[in-house]
Amino acid sequence: MKHTLICCAFFSMVSLSLIECSKTAPKPEETDAGIFAKSVTKEGFTYYKSDSTIHRSSPQSAHSGFFRVRFNLIAYAALTDNGKLPAGGSFPVHSLVVKELHDDSTGNNPHGYAIMEKLPDDTSAAGGWVWAEYGLTGTGYTINNKGAICTSCHSTNSRDKVRVFDLFP
Ligand code: HEC
Repeated sequence: MKHTLICCAFFSMVSLSLIECSKTAPKPEETDAGIFAKSVTKEGFTYYKSDSTIHRSSPQSAHSGFFRVRFNLIAYAALTDNGKLPAGGSFPVHSLVVKELHDDSTGNNPHGYAIMEKLPDDTSAAGGWVWAEYGLTGTGYTINNKGAICTSCHSTNSRDKVRVFDLFP
């Protein structure tokens, strides 16, 4: 019994010191909780072409169902080609693009978010963007995956990996 107690005490000390270490280690700029909190609010966002209509996803999409896309102020300011990012253009750092995922076009049945945040220097970034996809409670495809299942599908155009411009002109 005494031995068990000593063991426990030892292991708690080890785990405490591990926590201490991780506190001082360099941290990624973005976190899942952070990017989720920024994305659920609609404040400061504008829908693509200022139109909040919910569309059926293109057959080229992995996100089945219905969607609409909104841009934060920084991203929206870059949409100078008739509401689109000009071909060959690049979104500024801290651009945030949120795809609301819906079950239908009514707006009453959202089920999650697919998110791209332009943070080229972040440890979670791939191709200049941090990638995430969550259900309504903020769990799902974490930024730590570095967009492994996202980037190839999103690298098909010259508009900085945002697909909606060409598919929904
Ligand atoms: C099979 C291809 C495919 C994969 C894989 C994919 N996407 Fe998409 N994504 C699309 C298409 C196509 C659109 C355009 C809207 C639509 O048709 O649904 C899109 C739209 C988006 C948008 C809105 C901005 C834009 O590009 O139009 C975001 C944000 C997004 N996806 C994030 C992600 C994330 C994060 C992942 C990985 C977890 C991912 N996507 C994986 C095809 C894909």
